[in-house]
Order: sequence, then C-alpha cells, then structure tokens
Amino acid sequence: MPRLSGTTRLAAVIGAPIRHSLSPAIFNAAFECCELDWVYLAFEVPEGEARAALEAVRALGIGGLSVTMPHKDAVAELVEHCTPEAAALHAVNCVVPTGDGFVGENTDGPGFLDSLRAETGFDVAGRRTVVLGAGGAARAIVLALSRAGASEVSVVNRTPERAETAAALAGPVGRVSTGDAIGQADLVVNATSVGMGDGRLPFDPAMLTAGQVVADIVYHPSPTPLVAAALDRGVVAVDGLGMLVHQAAHAFRLWTGVEPPIEVMTTAARAALVSPEF
Ligand code: ATR
Repeated sequence: MPRLSGTTRLAAVIGAPIRHSLSPAIFNAAFECCELDWVYLAFEVPEGEARAALEAVRALGIGGLSVTMPHKDAVAELVEHCTPEAAALHAVNCVVPTGDGFVGENTDGPGFLDSLRAETGFDVAGRRTVVLGAGGAARAIVLALSRAGASEVSVVNRTPERAETAAALAGPVGRVSTGDAIGQADLVVNATSVGMGDGRLPFDPAMLTAGQVVADIVYHPSPTPLVAAALDRGVVAVDGLGMLVHQAAHAFRLWTGVEPPIEVMTTAARAALVSPEF
C-alpha cells in the first residue's frame, strides 16, 4: 500500500463496468516506482452520470482522470478544451485539469503507435495498413496511422457504414476495404473484439505472410488466438497490452510531468491480468 497523507493526490478512472480495470494496478505501480505522492482509484459511474463525475473531479481537486466506456463521447462534450485528436474522434480517454479548465485528450492512438514502435520497431511512415473494426479503438488507430504518415489506411468492418466513418478520419489515405486488403498490407491491426475470450480469429491467418506485422488490440487471453496464429506463421505480432500501458503512460506524463516507467507498468498489468480479481 502507498503511504497516504494529507498531501496525497488522487487520480481515478470512471467507467461502467469498471471492476476489472487494469488501470489501478498500472498507475499505482508507476506512482510507487517514481516515489510520487499519488494514488489511483476506479469509480463505477453509470451511463448518463459523466457530468456529475466531472463536477466531483473539479470540486475535489482530483489531479487526473481516465475515462472509459461508456463515457468517452459524453466527456468530449463536457470538458472546456479538447485536443485536435480528441475533437476529431469525439472521444476523450484522459482529462487533464489545468488552470484554464479541463483538457480532454485521447491517448489511445499515440499509445498504439508507441507500443508498436517499442515492441516491433515498425515505422508506419509510407506503409500500407489495414485496420479491422470501426469502434472507438479502431477509429483512434486509424487517425493515428494517418497522422504518422501511412500511405494507405484500409478499414474492414462487419458493418460497412461504420467503416466509412472510420476511414474518413484518415483523409485521402483512408478507404473502406474487404478482407482481400490483408494480404497486401505491411501492417494488419485487429481492432475488433473478436478473440476476446471467444477463441475466434478475426480473419483467416493463412492470408498472412512473413514480413508483415500484426497488432491485436485484444490482450486476454495471452497469447490471443490471432497473435498465436501469426507467430506460428513466422509473422511478427503484438497483443494489446502494450497499447493499454502506453496510453496510460501518456496520461501519467500529462498529469505528473514525470517520465513514465514503462517496464514497471507492463509488469504490473501482466500481474493484474493473472490475478484472481481479473
Ligand atoms: P470499442 O469502442 O471498444 O472499440 P465497439 O464500438 O463495440 O468497441 O466496436 C467493436 C468492433 O468489433 C466493431 O468494429 C464491431 O463491428 P461492427 O461495427 O459491425 O459492430 C467489431 N466486432 C465485434 N464483434 C464482431 C464479430 N463477431 N465479427 C466481426 N466484427 C465484430
């Protein structure tokens, strides 16, 4: 347990459901490692209560707030300022309290790119990419890939109308595609929930060839069905734990101004994943 006192600062996450969140483990390990007088808690906040929660953050002087489902869109409407990424995505996953009001950030895309770079060395600039899925995580990744200079961001989704909206975030390099695009891509990202505890694959891994890189946003079970299938074919593959850690690392840096201890945060996330509470 951290030593708590009258000067301890609070950071928190709001969401529903929240009890299985890995964020308390990740952030508290980072605060402890950096000897920061901070503590991080998870609050179950039902849909429709984001405004009340933000008022509480303001009244209590909470030092930083993570935002997860189902509040990301609502919080984008409620904060005083949004970064260009959060505004484009209309979704906030991190609130930074400042002297000029709350700033809504979206650190999912930068977290994805950092994880990809750190774990595979893959540089997105000039590369062909495919994103499977069109939900919140997929849209953040599509935007990040286009901003990082991908030559092509193809979106493949079960519901085509949602694919259009996601692909539009990538501007001229964005397009809606079918699964055939997978074979031609340098990077294939699974940003659907397929593989999350269901043992299923989001596409036939026989389409993959050595030299491609696969990123799965799913991280449980480990290895995910897609990561296991890709590795079997000699394809470099990473799961979504790195994205989770690196998006948290951005929040940590924004709130505290301290460089985040990535390895400590990763170890804490892995340990929490195998704990009986998860
Ligand atoms: P999040 O915001 O967390 O990314 P989401 O908005 O629920 O989650 O999006 C989940 C994504 O997984 C969507 O792209 C969804 O496809 P639809 O847009 O057609 O709903 C995709 N998905 C979920 N289950 C799927 C399945 N069984 N087969 C294919 N795609 C699936």
